[in-house]
Amino acid sequence: MSSLENEDHSIKKVKEVKEIFNSDIIIEAINITKDFEIGEFIVRAVDDISLKIKSGEFVVIMGPSGAGKTTLLNLIGGLDTPTKGIIFSFGIKISDMEQDSLTLFRLVNSGFIFQNYNLISTLTAEENIMFPMGLSGVSLKEQRERAIFLLNELGLGDRREHLPFQLSAGEQQRVAIARALANDPPVILADEPTANLDKDTSKFIKDLFLDMKKTEKTVIVATHDDYLIDLADRVIIFQDGIIIEENR
Ligand SMILES: Nc1ncnc2c1ncn2[C@@H]1O[C@H](COP(=O)(O)OP(=O)(O)OP(=O)(O)O)[C@@H](O)[C@H]1O
Ligand SMILES: [Mg+2]
Repeated sequence: MSSLENEDHSIKKVKEVKEIFNSDIIIEAINITKDFEIGEFIVRAVDDISLKIKSGEFVVIMGPSGAGKTTLLNLIGGLDTPTKGIIFSFGIKISDMEQDSLTLFRLVNSGFIFQNYNLISTLTAEENIMFPMGLSGVSLKEQRERAIFLLNELGLGDRREHLPFQLSAGEQQRVAIARALANDPPVILADEPTANLDKDTSKFIKDLFLDMKKTEKTVIVATHDDYLIDLADRVIIFQDGIIIEENR
């Protein structure tokens, strides 16, 4: 079997697991800690956190700069692994998964909207959106059709051929959102999605989050402003790596 067929097979398996998963709680973190060791210093970015996130929940994680919000999102989204503790996503223990399996798992289950967009600088807006679909085995024709659909939905129909550096911050943010939605994942993780945007663009992006809420996606947003707070089913106040308050 070629490596590509192998990969398709694994994606199928991940999708099957997702389909038979039958619980309200889709993410569960149990006593997770994340330490970063730089030289002689150890930074404890996440300090013994336990957290359950329900399917369809809209969770806002708020806290000052350096609180550990990005680190927590990366852990529960499977972009990073904890130093201690266990994380289940769709009933699968992702905290000690091998990188390759974790990549496949993320492709199917979660869309990441990064704090600094993380668009691939050499790919156009359209190609950036097609990229995760290509990795999960979608045909080129379908990739292009969906990318164009998403670009149009996000008001970027005339920016298909633009490279990231030819787009404004708000436009890059929208391409990043389209890319996160490309594989239609059930979970969206967003890191400061309205930072550095003007009022109108923030409003546009807020409406996109409202659509995600209406389509019952599970949304977890890390932010230090209160812009998306009225969409939240739950607000978690995070500081120095710990949850200091939770409001429903
Ligand atoms: N890869 C890394 N290596 C070393 N230290 C790190 C790393 N990532 C984060 N940290 C440290 O962990 C702490 C939490 O960082 P994190 O980026 O999670 O905070 P944040 O709440 O997202 O902040 P901001 O609101 O500024 O984005 C910080 O003190 C940071 O210096
Ligand atoms: Mg951050």
